[in-house]
Formats: sequence, C-alpha cells, structure tokens
Amino acid sequence: MFIQWQADVAVHHDGIDSDHQRMFELVNDLYDAMQTDAPRDSIGKTLQMLMACTREHFEHEDRVMQEHAYEHRSEHGRKHAALLAQLDTFVQEFDNGKTAITPETMDFLKEWLVQHIRRDDMKLAVFLEQAAGSDSLP
Ligand SMILES: [Fe+2]
Ligand SMILES: [Fe+2]
Repeated sequence: MFIQWQADVAVHHDGIDSDHQRMFELVNDLYDAMQTDAPRDSIGKTLQMLMACTREHFEHEDRVMQEHAYEHRSEHGRKHAALLAQLDTFVQEFDNGKTAITPETMDFLKEWLVQHIRRDDMKLAVFLEQAAGSDSLP
C-alpha cells in the first residue's frame, strides 16, 4: 500500500470521508499497477476512474459547502478547479504517452490528493463541526 487513509485526514463527514477513502484506494491501485507493471490501458482505466471519482467528489463537497453556507466556498471551489485541471493534464499526458506511472508521478498524485485534504478540507471539517455543535444548542 502506498498511502493509507488515517484518522488524521478524517473530516468527520461520512460522505466526504468515504469519497476520500475511495480516492486513496484508486491512488493505491495505481501504485500496485506500477509495481506489477500493469498494461497501460488498464492504468488508463484506473486514471479515468480517479478523474470521475474526483469530479463527483468535488461536486459532492460543493453541495455540502452550499448547504452549510460555508464562507470559503468559492475559494475552495477554485482550488477544486485547479486540482481537477492538474489531474486532467496528467491524464492527458499519460494518454499521449508523454508520461507514465513512476515513483515521481506517484509522489505527485500523493501530494495532489493529501495536501488539499490537509489544508483545505480540514478547514471545512472544523467549520462543519462547529456548525453541528451550534445546531444542537437549544
Ligand atoms: Fe475539497
Ligand atoms: Fe475533498
């Protein structure tokens, strides 16, 4: 296993956490594919799944931000757009044979996935926790 989903990246929102776990799984699948020298087309399929999963996840997170009137929603949304563009560029380069799954590109994917969760999703998590706390007041 390349990266492990752990409590320190939990945002304590079941839907968001399970999306993140799925994304970790797909990045781990890419790592396994590298280790086992899997054929390019099967790696390409996993990358497409990661793209689809990411798109859905960002939409999902955006709905959660909207529902809770999160004050940093638009800034967070811009970060999602930038992340999606980065992944899209990587997948296109992969499809064009300009890049491959290597230890370096795995590190890129790891940072791509983990940094945003740590920096930005965690801020959202704190906000959601506070919102939940105030909802329970009499
Ligand atoms: Fe996010
Ligand atoms: Fe997220």
